[in-house]
Amino acid sequence: MSTIQRTWKLNGKKVSVRGPAGRRLLDYLREDLDLIGAKEGCGEGECGACTVLIDNEPVASCIVPIGQLADGTEILTIEGVEKKRAGRLLQRAFLECGAVQCGFCIPGMIISAYALLMRNPRPTPRAIRAALAGNLCRCTGYAKIIQAVTLASSRLPVPTKRK
Ligand code: FES
Ligand code: FES
Repeated sequence: MSTIQRTWKLNGKKVSVRGPAGRRLLDYLREDLDLIGAKEGCGEGECGACTVLIDNEPVASCIVPIGQLADGTEILTIEGVEKKRAGRLLQRAFLECGAVQCGFCIPGMIISAYALLMRNPRPTPRAIRAALAGNLCRCTGYAKIIQAVTLASSRLPVPTKRK
């Protein structure tokens, strides 16, 4: 397998990346960089537990080989999102609404919700459901999660800029 050498912008900082082109981004983040917020659920791109933002789009990191990510790719993990204002608002709202039970799905949920709020700071419940459709939760029944995202959005100024 070929080895790649790249430079990405990860959580706002430049990182040099080297490794087998086929290595999963999820493994690289968790094992090499100790960014363990992204979880492995299905390992097949179905559950959303491993979601990260790649160039502002939520992506399942378990199915992305690092060789696919060009120089200059911007990656945001939950560790980066929780330093942003909207990320902190989401975390607080999830706790206030009781939207966290076992917590396994929550980093991925918050990443997808953050991406939504960055492009639509006042989403309808329907838009929230659609944005979180790729993130599965076995505990909460989703109602409190939708409520939490709505609460966080009500606390964001409009128009908003990526911060
Ligand atoms: S672990 Fe990646 S989508 Fe389920
Ligand atoms: S809170 Fe347990 S899977 Fe969502």
